[in-house]
Amino acid sequence: MTHQVRAVIARGKGAPVSLETIVVPDPGPGEALVKVEACGVCHTDLHYREGGINDDFPFLLGHEAAGVVESVGEGVTDVAPGDFVILNWRAVCGNCRACRRGRPQYCFDTHNAKQKMTLLDGTELSPALGIGAFAEKTLVAAGQCTKVDRAASAAAAGLLGCGVMAGIGAAINTGNVGRGDTVAVIGCGGVGDAAIAGARLAGAARIIAVDIDDRKLEQARSLGATHTVNSKTADPVEAIRELTGGFGADVVIEAVGRPETYKQAFYARDLAGTVVLVGVPTPEMKLELPLLDVFGRGGALKSSWYGDCLPSRDFPMLIDLYLQGRLDLDAFVTETIALEDVEKAFERMHGGDVLRSVVEL
Ligand code: APR
Ligand code: ZN
Ligand code: ZN
Repeated sequence: MTHQVRAVIARGKGAPVSLETIVVPDPGPGEALVKVEACGVCHTDLHYREGGINDDFPFLLGHEAAGVVESVGEGVTDVAPGDFVILNWRAVCGNCRACRRGRPQYCFDTHNAKQKMTLLDGTELSPALGIGAFAEKTLVAAGQCTKVDRAASAAAAGLLGCGVMAGIGAAINTGNVGRGDTVAVIGCGGVGDAAIAGARLAGAARIIAVDIDDRKLEQARSLGATHTVNSKTADPVEAIRELTGGFGADVVIEAVGRPETYKQAFYARDLAGTVVLVGVPTPEMKLELPLLDVFGRGGALKSSWYGDCLPSRDFPMLIDLYLQGRLDLDAFVTETIALEDVEKAFERMHGGDVLRSVVEL
């Protein structure tokens, strides 16, 4: 059997997205069919539409999603129909060299559904990040579904599927922020704010938010920043040192993805401290640093892939903390919108006043 559902499609480079009927097959071996309840609008979806990721149009957009498993294919035992799940784009394989060494969060061979979803004329769709959840139903690999407590709001839970998990994980997984640490976060969009929330959760003593927009700094404060620095008007390296006894922060998280902000992170860190790059640079960007400073300052320069998260370990735990009131995921949901409003949400992204628009279905 197949299912005909409404979905948001990007047909060509730079063209506005369209709402179309697509065909979703029943799950085959190892697959799950998910009835999507909510899906956040992420910069990566816009990036696909602009042709910035690859040319495999048409794309089925949407990837920060939560929903309910409708049916599963042969051999699926980890999830069952009726389970409330968060979708992830890193279903670990269990067999690659990273998985075999007990580091599944780095899995190099993650799974997606094998069968294709199509347009009505049979044209195969490329689902964004192997998910494609701006759709009433989507087909994924069963490992892309992580069961969490049904009491969570779908709009908030789905955000763990991408940007918010990237930020929280940059702090708690990659940066290994611990009780009493000083932390600075450069760039306070959805990812940076999530890093701030993660640092608070981990017990950081001081959390310094850096941005060039005062509205962002205000929001960062509500998520746990104890100090803010507007790097348009103050030197962020000096300011962070001043706020950390003249030394620099134990962990600095770069959530912009630019060489100049990376350099700020590098020099705003205490000796033997850690820099975490979670912002994603573009191919032409280059970084120049005195090698002696790289050596002399010691510590660790790390990158964070999707917050180095392991969905099966991190999603249920973070949802439990959310339900206990210790992690305010609702704060990341600026507005809820309908499936037909995705194009408008892309336009609003440039305004800088939205953390996440979330489609509710
Ligand atoms: N210095 C400090 N902050 C900056 C600077 C700068 N030079 N340039 C931009 N910013 C701030 C913006 O004001 C904004 O608050 O960085 C923030 C970026 O936020 P968003 O555009 O909302 O992006 P976000 O979704 O948070 O993602 C940030 O992480 O996952 C990656 O691809 C993503 O590279 C992107 C980064
Ligand atoms: Zn693997
Ligand atoms: Zn995303």
